[in-house]
Amino acid sequence: MSNPGFSKGLEGVVAAESTICKVDGENGRLFYLGYSIRDLVEHCTFEEVTFLLLYGQLPNEEQLEDFSSAMRGKRKLEDPVKKMITDFPRDSHPMEMLQTVVPYLAAYSGPEGCRDTEFDCLYAEHLIPQLASAVAAWHRVQQDLPIVDPDRSLSHGANFLYMLTGEKPSELAGRIMDGCLILHAEHGLNASTFTARVVASTLSTCYSAIAAAIGALYGPLHGGANEKVMDMVDEIEADASLSPGEWVSKALSEKRKIMGMGHRVYRAKDPRAIIIEGYLEELGKQQGDTSYYDMLKEVERVFRERMEEKGKPIYPNVDFFSGALYRMLGVPTILFTPIFALSRASGWLSHIIEQRHDNRLYRPSSTYVGEIDRPFAPMSERE
Ligand SMILES: CC(C)(COP(=O)(O)OP(=O)(O)OC[C@H]1O[C@@H](n2cnc3c(N)ncnc32)[C@H](O)[C@@H]1OP(=O)(O)O)[C@@H](O)C(=O)NCCC(=O)NCCS
Repeated sequence: MSNPGFSKGLEGVVAAESTICKVDGENGRLFYLGYSIRDLVEHCTFEEVTFLLLYGQLPNEEQLEDFSSAMRGKRKLEDPVKKMITDFPRDSHPMEMLQTVVPYLAAYSGPEGCRDTEFDCLYAEHLIPQLASAVAAWHRVQQDLPIVDPDRSLSHGANFLYMLTGEKPSELAGRIMDGCLILHAEHGLNASTFTARVVASTLSTCYSAIAAAIGALYGPLHGGANEKVMDMVDEIEADASLSPGEWVSKALSEKRKIMGMGHRVYRAKDPRAIIIEGYLEELGKQQGDTSYYDMLKEVERVFRERMEEKGKPIYPNVDFFSGALYRMLGVPTILFTPIFALSRASGWLSHIIEQRHDNRLYRPSSTYVGEIDRPFAPMSERE
C-alpha cells in the first residue's frame, strides 16, 4: 500500500531550518555559522568555537576572556558527582556513565539546580567542561588511579588530556586535542542532534535534552566508527604476511567493507579527515613514530585505486585517521565515543537554543497498519 508522506527514518524530510551548520558534501566543505572549519581549527580554541555556536558570532577579546574563564572555573567535579562516577558499575560503558551523570550535573548547575524551561547559556558554561571532567574521571577510576583536578591554565583539550593521564600534554598534543574537539563539535541534523531538538521542543531542561542526545550517540550506527578503524589497524598489524595494501586488496576481494571509508553525505574527501590526517603526520613526526600514518595512507591509496577501477570514487571520512590519532594521544579506544559526545555537546546546545527561539513541539504522525475490531478472547479461551 503506497503511503504518500511516509519516509522511513525520516530520510529526505526537512525537519528544521537552521543557520548553524552547512555540510557541502559534493565539494567536501563544512561550515559552522558560515565559517569554514579549516579557518576555525587554524585560528580558534574550542572555547572560542563554543562561544560561536552558542551566541552566533565570534567573541571579541574581552568576551573570549570572560567566557573561557567561566568555563575553566567550572571544570572541577563536585564530590557527590565524583562519588557517583566512582560507584558506577565497573563493567559499564562510559557512555552509560555519561548519560547517567548528566541529571546529577543538572542539580549542581547553580544555586537552584537546573529546572529552567528557558535556556540560559550559563548552563552550557557548566555542562561542557563537566562532561570532559566526568569522562576523564571515569577513566582514572577504571585504572584505580586518583581523579586529577583540572588545571585552568590549559586549553579545554589540553586540560582533558591532563585530567585523563595526569601528565601535562605537549603544546602540540594539547592543540591537536582542542582541534579534534572543534572538528567534532557540529554536523547538522544527525540522529543525536535531532534527539536533542525533539526533547528541547517539549520545553524540558537542556540537561535532559543532552542526556537523551548522548543515548542516541551511543548506538553503533551513529558514534563509534573510529573504534572499528582501530580494529582494522590491529588486524593489519597482526598479519605480518601481508602489507597494508595487500591486506586491503584481499579484504575487498572478500567483499569486506573498509572502515572509515565512504560517507552518506560527502562525495569528496571529508574536510575533517584532511585536517586530522595532517595532525596524525605532525604528531607522528614529533613522537618519532609515523607508522600509523604510513599504514593508513597506504590503505587509503590502495582502497581508492581499487574503487576507482570499479568507477566508485570513495574517500576517507572523519573516522579514518582519528582513532589512530587518539591512540597516539594516550586515549583508550573505549573513550572514542565519549569524546565525540563531549565535543558535540557544543553543537547540541547550539541546536537547543535555535529550537527554543522558534519552538514548535515535534509531533510527527504514524500510519496505523495494524488490525482493528479484533474479537476479544477471554483468558480461558486463549492458547
Ligand atoms: C558510510 C557508508 C554506510 C555509506 O554508504 P552508502 O552511501 O550506501 O555508500 P555508497 O552508495 O557510497 O557505496 C557505493 C558502493 O561502494 C561500496 N562501498 C562504500 N563504502 C565502502 C567501504 N567502506 N568499503 C568497501 N566498499 C564500500 C558500497 O558497498 C557500494 O558498492 P555496490 O555499488 O557494489 O553495492 C559506507 O560507505 C560504509 O559502510 N562505510 C564504512 C563504515 C564507516 O566508516 N562508517 C562511518 C561513516 S561516518
